[in-house]
Amino acid sequence: MSNQSLDVTRFFPQGDAVAAAEAASLSRMARGMQGSKILQIAYEVQARIKAGHDVADFTVGDFARSEFRVPDALIEHTAQALKDGHTNYPPADGLAELRQAIVAQAERELGLKYPVDTVVVGSGARPLLYGAYRCLIDAGEKVVYPAPSWNNKNFCHQVGAVDVVVPTTPESNFMPDVKALEDALPGARMLVLCSPGNPTGTMIREAAMREIGEYIVAENAARKARGERLLYLVYDQVYRNLTFGDFSHVTPVGVVPAMAEYTLFVDAISKCFAATGLRVGWMYGPPHVARQVKALMTHMGAWAPRPEQVATAKLLNDAPAMKAYLEHHLGGIHARLDALSRGLTAMKAEGLPVVAIEPEGAIYLSVRFDLLGRGGLNTEDAVRQYLLEKAGVAVVPFSAFGDSKNRNWWRFSVGAVSVAQIEACLPRLREALRSVM
Ligand SMILES: Cc1ncc(COP(=O)(O)O)c(C=O)c1O
Repeated sequence: MSNQSLDVTRFFPQGDAVAAAEAASLSRMARGMQGSKILQIAYEVQARIKAGHDVADFTVGDFARSEFRVPDALIEHTAQALKDGHTNYPPADGLAELRQAIVAQAERELGLKYPVDTVVVGSGARPLLYGAYRCLIDAGEKVVYPAPSWNNKNFCHQVGAVDVVVPTTPESNFMPDVKALEDALPGARMLVLCSPGNPTGTMIREAAMREIGEYIVAENAARKARGERLLYLVYDQVYRNLTFGDFSHVTPVGVVPAMAEYTLFVDAISKCFAATGLRVGWMYGPPHVARQVKALMTHMGAWAPRPEQVATAKLLNDAPAMKAYLEHHLGGIHARLDALSRGLTAMKAEGLPVVAIEPEGAIYLSVRFDLLGRGGLNTEDAVRQYLLEKAGVAVVPFSAFGDSKNRNWWRFSVGAVSVAQIEACLPRLREALRSVM
C-alpha cells in the first residue's frame, strides 16, 4: 500500500453525469423524495444571521440553548447512565423500565391504562410515525391528513400511499371536523391528526374529536361486516403538555373509548422537554400493530440511545420534577407567544394587514399577512424575503406544510428567540407593513 491516500472523488459522477447516475441507481422513491422546505428556509436564515444581519428567527421548530434548556434531571441521569455503563444495544422496543414509566404516565396524565407490551420506544417520534405508516399501509392505499400538517406528505411518499389532503380553515382552528373528513375517509386506511398542532399552535376540540372517533368506530364496524381493511387513527401528541389557558389536550380514546382498537399514539420528549437532540420517542396502540412496529425497529435500529432511555424513565417517574420543569418551560413559551400575539394584534388595531390566532398550544403562532399584491410583492416567496430583509423577521409559509389553500398564512415558531428579540422586531415589522400600505 502506498503512503499516499486515494482521493476517491474522481470515481464519482460530476456535472451532467449526475442525472444519469441517479436514474441508473436510485429507487423511484428516492428519486421523488423532496428535502424539507422548512429546513431550506431555516438554513438560508442562519446564513443571513451569520453574515451579521439582525434577524428574529421564527423558522425552526426547535429550541435555542440560550433560551430553553432540557430538565437538569435529564442531563444528570443521562451522564450517570453513561458512567454506569449503559452503552450497549437497548431492547428493540425500549428498556422495560422506560416502557413501564410511559404507561404509568399515560395512566396518570391521560387516564388511559395501556399494557407495557403495547409500547415501542424509538429515537424520537419520527421513526414511530414512519413505523406506523410502514406497518399499516400498502402501496396505493389511502392516507388522509389535514393541511397544514407536518411531514405527512413525505411519509406518504416513502410508503407509496395515496395521500388525501383535507383543507382546514382558520374558523375551525385549522383542525378538521367530521364534515370536512367525510368525503375523504371512505376507503382510507389511515387518518393522521396532531394536536396541539404544528404549524398552527391550535388544538382539536373535544366535540370534534368525539365526532371523528364515533365516525371511525362506525366506519370500522361497517368494514368488518363487509370484510374490508380497517381505518386507523395515528394521533401525534408530541406537544401535548404545552397548552395554554383553558385549552386542554383531548385524546381520541379518552373521548371515545372504543377508539383504543384503532388508535396509535405517538409521543416524545423532544418538544415538551426541549430535548430535540436527545432522541427519545414512543408509541402505544393495539398490540398486533405495536408488535410489528417493534419487529420493524429490530431491522431499522432507530432506537433511542440507552443512556437517554434510562434518564427518560427516571424523569417520567418523577411527577413533581416534571411538573416544576413544565411550569417553567410553558411559562417561557407562553411569554414569547403572548408578546408576539399582543404586538401583532396591536398592529391589526392600527389597520395594518395582519391577523394572529390566539395561541392555544405547542410553540407556534399562526399569522396572516395580507401582503400579496401590495408593493410589488407578487409571490409568497417575495413576501417572505421582504419580511426577512425589511423587518428582519424570518417565518415559514403554511405552503411548506402541504397547505395550498390557506395562502397568506405563516408559522412563527418561538423556541429560538427571546422576549427581548420579539419586542425588538415588532417595530421593524410595523414599519415594513406600513411601507406597503
Ligand atoms: C408534530 C410533530 N410530530 C413529530 C415531530 C418529530 O419529533 P422528533 O424530533 O421527536 O422526531 C415533530 C417535529 O418537529 C412535530 O412537529
